[in-house]
Amino acid sequence: MKRVAILISGGGSNMVALAKSMVGDHPARPVLVASNDPNAGGLVRARDMGIATAAVDHRPFKGDRAAFEAALLEPILAAEPDILCLAGFMRVLTPAFVQRFEGRMLNIHPSLLPKYPGLHTHRRAIEAGDSEAGCTVHEVTAILDDGPMLGQMRVPILPGDTPDALAARVLVQEHILYPTCLRAFADRLPIGAGIR
Ligand code: GRF
Repeated sequence: MKRVAILISGGGSNMVALAKSMVGDHPARPVLVASNDPNAGGLVRARDMGIATAAVDHRPFKGDRAAFEAALLEPILAAEPDILCLAGFMRVLTPAFVQRFEGRMLNIHPSLLPKYPGLHTHRRAIEAGDSEAGCTVHEVTAILDDGPMLGQMRVPILPGDTPDALAARVLVQEHILYPTCLRAFADRLPIGAGIR
């Protein structure tokens, strides 16, 4: 059984979708939900689902990413995950952290990569006059919102769409795409090549 740690920063709706999908004959189970924000709503939802949680507030580290990540690594490594899923995790990770998990770390990004890496993806797509938007699940590499893609889902951009309206339409697809990609990824991940 593959062990999955999920990193969140906010409400954790993608974390909930992932956790709910890991049942029955699914080859993975959630073993930890960790956040950079002790007040993240997703931590309460994880606890309600019986999943162990951890929180390391990034603010006291005042931009010292390596020190913050060293603290965050503690509960993550203690959970002995085989796979790390970033799900609404809003901190940029250092190359050192990424290299430790390279090939075993996934992220969901709310755009049709390679279009619109970074933030405010929905506003940018609307302002560009695009006819469609969507989300992408990809392996995390040292380059932000880059890395091999596992899947994408597309939605139409409708006349008069606000960024919030588009975000809500995309989020529905995120909750379908991410569990689907995680299952395929977990199925083909070699046994025992865990994260140390
Ligand atoms: C989602 O749009 C996701 O694509 C982005 O963060 C947003 C919130 O995700 N990474 P969640 O509800 O916290 O999972």
